[in-house]
Amino acid sequence: MSFDLGGNTHHVPAKLFVDNRRRLVAELQKLPPKAGTFVVLQGGVGRHRYNTDSEDLPFRQESYFFWAFGAHESDAFGVIDVATGKSVFFPPRLPPDFAIWEGKIRDEAWLKAKYEVDEVIFNDKYAINDYLTSHGAKNLYLLKAENTDSGNTLVPASFPKRDHFNPSIDTATLYPVIANLRVFKTDLELDVLRYAVKIACEAHKDVMKSIRPNMFEYQCESLFRHHSYYHGGCRHLAYTCVAATGCNSSILHYGHANAPNSKLIKDGDMCMYDMGPEYNCYASDVTCSFPANGKFTENQKLVYNAVLKANREVFKAAKPGVRWIDMHLLAEKVLLEGLKGAGILKGDVDAMVKARIGAVFLPHGLGHLMGLDVHDVGGFLGDAVPRPSEAGLSSLRTTRTLQERMCITIEPGCYFIDILLDRALADPKQKDFFIVERLNEFRGFGGIRIEDDIVVWEKGNENMSQNLPRTVEEIEEFMKH
Ligand code: GLY
Ligand code: MN
Ligand code: MN
Repeated sequence: MSFDLGGNTHHVPAKLFVDNRRRLVAELQKLPPKAGTFVVLQGGVGRHRYNTDSEDLPFRQESYFFWAFGAHESDAFGVIDVATGKSVFFPPRLPPDFAIWEGKIRDEAWLKAKYEVDEVIFNDKYAINDYLTSHGAKNLYLLKAENTDSGNTLVPASFPKRDHFNPSIDTATLYPVIANLRVFKTDLELDVLRYAVKIACEAHKDVMKSIRPNMFEYQCESLFRHHSYYHGGCRHLAYTCVAATGCNSSILHYGHANAPNSKLIKDGDMCMYDMGPEYNCYASDVTCSFPANGKFTENQKLVYNAVLKANREVFKAAKPGVRWIDMHLLAEKVLLEGLKGAGILKGDVDAMVKARIGAVFLPHGLGHLMGLDVHDVGGFLGDAVPRPSEAGLSSLRTTRTLQERMCITIEPGCYFIDILLDRALADPKQKDFFIVERLNEFRGFGGIRIEDDIVVWEKGNENMSQNLPRTVEEIEEFMKH
């Protein structure tokens, strides 16, 4: 059963999550066996607006729990017996009045068929405790997940225990195993990601066709949201829309509450639209940059082509076995060559890379793993090296070598950010690379990012977001009114 929204929306089979649980059990069974070992995962907690019961926050499941159970119920738990692989879903026991306010209460058999778990038990106070004790649980693998990008910690599952139940608690084993499994997408997961990215591309194209100078940025965000949900069944977006135009397009994560895509779009503005829906919790992350009026100026063309070349060179070079840091450095090099060609920089390009000029124009990482989370987990597991300390490289969200079935964004950009330009011009190691008069022509230009969503394959990478006008000529042709 699992999930779709009818019509042309993608059907996500419950098997996707059955397979994930099997993969998890297979990995855990490779560890030295300990009798009575169970995984306990806690799903997301339903929340209302601050101190009210106003339901303005549509629930979105916690991603690790979703990866294993595919369930959309809030306040649920899941238990997996490591020895047998048997999985039990514990949704909350809902009060009878739930049926008045929220609708039909589904029974255990319906939920078991929907999620293809071995058993469903409503979570009365001691239900998890009693299930575990009656099945001889002695050792619990709980998930304690650190996110070094956000600094947040996902706290281990917590459920009421009877006094005499004191299993040993292991919060170290599960995280690296499950996070690393999340890095490598199964065929069924790739199908969902391809669908989410396809919807992202169609919604971006809708915006590119509809935009006109004198619209507001938020009207483009609105069109994108509408297209994603109305045509794609994507209720949630994977992150806050960046619908930046003009000088706002140099603000890397523009669009937040205090910069809410509120500017009037002007003729001649460059747009940098980084927007992506998620479908059944699987993310897309696509950025299109284009002139609001559909026609590039010569300066816009120069910068756009430098960024596009960086994107395309990385796409070709990003093969299995290649380290992501090296791809970032390749992107910098191509970009800096382009800026030298545009007369903004002078000198030896390798020396510029060494002097970290790349980070003046591209202060964020080249890209990141993606999946259930837009900035997906596992970037510093496996063969990752520690996060570099150099400018730009320190923003990388992974330092791993690429492997088949990784999904990663390729998102080089070039931004004219006054504070970074001023710092560089005041830095004796950097200032001599700039042709200041020419550089000053680009102050206030904004920025350009070209972001694609990639699956890494030995036979050559797959660009899930390839169905977009990307060259200057393609964009100008596509945007002709
Ligand atoms: N949309 C955020 C990012 O590109 O990483
Ligand atoms: Mn993005
Ligand atoms: Mn991204």
